[in-house]
Amino acid sequence: MQALNSSVKIAVIGAGAMGSGIAQVAAQAGHQVYLQDQQAGAAEKGKAGVAKVLQKRVDKGKMQQADLDALLSRIQPVDALEELADAGLVIEAIIENLDIKRQLFANLESICGEEVILATNTSSILVTSLGAQLKRPERLLGMHFFNPAPLMALVEVILGLATDKKLAEVVHATATAWGKKPVFATSTPGFIVNRVARPFYAESLRLMQEQAADPATLDALLREAGSFRMGPFELMDLIGHDVNYAVTESVFSAYYGDFRFQPSLIQKALVEAGRLGRKTGQGFYSYAEGAERPTAATQPQQSFTEQPVIIEGELGAASGLAERFKQAGLNVIERAGAGVLRYGEATLALTDGRMAGERLVTDGLQDLVVFDLAKDYKNATRLAIAAAKQTSTTAINDATALLQKAGLAVSLLSDAPGLVVMRTLAMLANEAADAVLQGVASAADVDLAMCAGVNYPQGPLSWSDNLGQGVIWQVLTNLQASYGEDRYRPSLLLRQYAFTGQSFSV
Ligand code: NAI
Repeated sequence: MQALNSSVKIAVIGAGAMGSGIAQVAAQAGHQVYLQDQQAGAAEKGKAGVAKVLQKRVDKGKMQQADLDALLSRIQPVDALEELADAGLVIEAIIENLDIKRQLFANLESICGEEVILATNTSSILVTSLGAQLKRPERLLGMHFFNPAPLMALVEVILGLATDKKLAEVVHATATAWGKKPVFATSTPGFIVNRVARPFYAESLRLMQEQAADPATLDALLREAGSFRMGPFELMDLIGHDVNYAVTESVFSAYYGDFRFQPSLIQKALVEAGRLGRKTGQGFYSYAEGAERPTAATQPQQSFTEQPVIIEGELGAASGLAERFKQAGLNVIERAGAGVLRYGEATLALTDGRMAGERLVTDGLQDLVVFDLAKDYKNATRLAIAAAKQTSTTAINDATALLQKAGLAVSLLSDAPGLVVMRTLAMLANEAADAVLQGVASAADVDLAMCAGVNYPQGPLSWSDNLGQGVIWQVLTNLQASYGEDRYRPSLLLRQYAFTGQSFSV
């Protein structure tokens, strides 16, 4: 499908954080852009904000002054809605309120031509509800940018019940022409990213609540073992707890209280205390001048004694760890067995979603130490371990010494089922699989959205493909049994793929 020609005029309504950024994106692509805001002077201020940001690029020699001047000449602040009459695409980025947005679209229908495409940047209101009272609801769709719009590549193109698919394709092609990475999604709560990302925050909040580890340790593990750019606590502090909590609450209530989306009391307390994160100087961390960031809990250095590392059977998802031991020059002996590592007194096994204490008893593994998933064992710099109450201190120290010898910092957590990276990935993949099962988006679009929208190191579905759906399904099944909670119920699609051996092929 053809993108809108750059001669088509674009109107952006609402010149706040999002609207100004969207106006910049459209102007950069060569369109004439109207920028309208109901507040006097706001549109000029929005344009001035764009000029200020881009002037820095000119000053650094990354942009020509003439190009900036030309771009700014294409953004035209306007006062009245009537001045947008000849726009071909109108993108609304005003206050997040159903009635006010509905009224705006009703007004636009009477001002603009019949061929206009109406788009909303809403994060949480269903496109279907916004279109309900329109004369031409088929011409309304979602065009959900991420903040800051000029920098974030993702645009979720949202189809309401009535949306004309051809128009959605035009908008998709237009977003591509604007240098974005668009995906299609149906109008369901949270669309793709705001739904699938919930467990990234929720599982760490829960681990913290259960005193498995503190925020600095969990953040470090998701960065250094999980390869996520930021840990969940530092990211929530950046987003603002008021905003992050409101999104979680809205998705939770929109899914009729599904416990997968249950908000956290810890975050609620921060919101009520006014500890909103960076913007108030205090969230999980302090941002006061001179405040030092707490460091991750790390096991003290243990002395390594030369003895063989025995690998019994296939390590599956953890085979990269065996490679790492070999590269570190350790004496690795391989023999048949149930997929465990033995070193000194310790028996080490990749977490399967059970507590070490339960697994030690059930599987008869003495001195068991479970370790976490790493995105890439060869390059990870830190790994979480947990031990059963019955595991000896010598075994924990042996396991620590072995991992340290291979160059890993080790964080010892309490015996939390699924540890951190494995549990987070399992829940992200579960949510992503359900979104695919329910036809919200294709597997490829879900993965693209999570990489382009929130910078995940790999899409949760292709990551799950790499491990095998059986691994993820088993972890979830064990988590569900551990907690006895519906929250961890595996998606039907993961269960199906675990048994059929299918993959998401993304
Ligand atoms: P903002 O508060 O920075 O800006 C909103 C602007 O809209 C204000 O300048 C306000 O004066 C104006 N406005 C309000 N009612 C209006 C009306 N009836 N007509 C014209 N202008 C009106 O808000 P922000 O953050 O830019 O959000 C705008 C929309 O984008 C919301 O729907 C929000 O859910 C969505 N969104 C926000 C993201 C974010 O990270 N801030 C990310 C993606 C979507």
